[in-house]
This record gives sequence, structure tokens and C-alpha cells, in this order.
Amino acid sequence: MNRVDTGLTVRGGTDRKGRAEAIASLALDAGESLAVVGPTGSGKSEFLADLEQAAAGDTPSGRIVTFYRDGKSVSGPGLAATLSQRTHFVMDASVGEFLRLHAASLGKDALRLAGQTVALANTLCGEPMSGESLLQRLSGGQSRALMIADIALVSDAPVVLIDEVENAGIDKHLAVEILSGHGKITVIATHDPVLMLTGRKRLVMEEGGMRRLYELDAAEKLCLDRLRLLDETLISARERLRRGERL
Ligand SMILES: Nc1ncnc2c1ncn2[C@@H]1O[C@H](COP(=O)(O)OP(=O)(O)O)[C@@H](O)[C@H]1O
Ligand SMILES: [Mg+2]
Repeated sequence: MNRVDTGLTVRGGTDRKGRAEAIASLALDAGESLAVVGPTGSGKSEFLADLEQAAAGDTPSGRIVTFYRDGKSVSGPGLAATLSQRTHFVMDASVGEFLRLHAASLGKDALRLAGQTVALANTLCGEPMSGESLLQRLSGGQSRALMIADIALVSDAPVVLIDEVENAGIDKHLAVEILSGHGKITVIATHDPVLMLTGRKRLVMEEGGMRRLYELDAAEKLCLDRLRLLDETLISARERLRRGERL
């Protein structure tokens, strides 16, 4: 098993048919991102769930997940923040109130962080929000942007799990870059080709097992650049058409 100083390791278990996983161990360092790919039913969500629960051989896969901080294994709640498909705030408060409460609960500089977090969220989403915006009035895209900025700047969780947030109304590629830039490990299960290539590492799931692990090479990096251009063209065309403009 590779050692990590701050990050996590996964010791492989068995696939859905009870066979030992081809990838026997996996290590992710702080700031790394991993794309998890495979057809529906291949085990992506199970893998994310194992990370979320810090599985200890006690889940259907039998995997063992260990988190490390400064060379020491750590356990307890709050290690993984999950960004799920349905993200709407139920709290009856403004964006600023929510952020100040969250920061203060972690003993952090609430006022400064709240402002920075709103500004960061606004870089991710086309529709700006302010500290006075009401949480329950945010669009899906604004809510996700706020959650990502909150995870990046306020939350202490070292790992962010993202399960298939397609067409999320945010700049997904930038979101992963921001999270990585703040030292978060991002694990993202996705069918989106740009996101599949965004992580330097890509884990291929098959029949519930970790089957292959790829690293982005120069050829795929070129493909990623071209796919991003196509993606940006498509996104901006969609936005302009939605606004009633002509192309
Ligand atoms: N390693 C495994 N061992 C046993 N069952 C598994 C394993 N991986 C996945 N499963 C089960 O297989 C089903 C499909 O897996 P899931 O993670 O939902 O696939 P995906 O998210 O790729 O569509 C789920 O019921 C899940 O619990
Ligand atoms: Mg799934």
C-alpha cells in the first residue's frame, strides 16, 4: 500500500461476484482528484459510499478506507463532504447568515470568510448571489456553487464526493480546480467526458469492482483541451438560447 501523509487510502475488497478487485490498493493525496467511471450498475456509488462511511470491511465491497492527516490516521464524522444530485437548502436564512454560522461553529473568522465564500461561489455560477440572498430562493446552480465554495473555504472536510452532477448550472471543471486548489481530494462519479478527464487519475469500475486505474497522459490531455472548448461552446449556446437570444 502506498503511504500518504495527508489524504486517504483504499484497500480493495471484492466485486459484486465476490472476486478480489483487480486494483488491490489506491492512495489519494491532498489536492488530488479522482474520476470514477463505468456504466450504470458498475459500482460507482458504492465506491463513493465506502469513502463517505470510511468503510472498514463492513460494507458489501469489503473495502477498507483510511484517512490520514499529517501522517496519522484520523477517524470520525465530517471527513467527507458529499455534493449530491439534489441540493437545495432547507434552512430559512440568508446566504450570509448561513456562512457566518457555519464558520463560527468551526471557530473561524466568520465575517471575512462569508464574504470570500460568496465571491468564490459567484465565479462558479452565471447568476450572482449576495450575502443577503435567501437560501431557499437560490437556483440549483447557485446552491451547488455555494456548497462548493463553502466546502472549499469553510468546511474542514478533506474529501469531497460528487455523484453525477451533470448539467448542474455551474462550471464543473472550475469547481474541481477550486476544490483541488484548496487541498481537497475530489472524487467524482460522472458520465461527463470533460469531468472524466479532469482528474489526473481515473478509476474504471466494472461489476462492482475497481478494475483499472489510468493516469492522464499527454494524448488525453490534448483531447481534454479540445473537449473543454466544445463544452464551453455548447454551454454558452445553451445559455444564450435560454435567454431568448439568437446565435
Ligand atoms: N463491490 C461490491 N460488492 C457487492 N455489491 C456491490 C459492489 N459494488 C456495487 N454493488 C452493488 O451493485 C449495485 C450497483 O452499484 P452502484 O454503486 O449503484 O452502481 P453505479 O453507481 O455505478 O450505477 C448496488 O446495489 C450496489 O450496492
Ligand atoms: Mg450511481
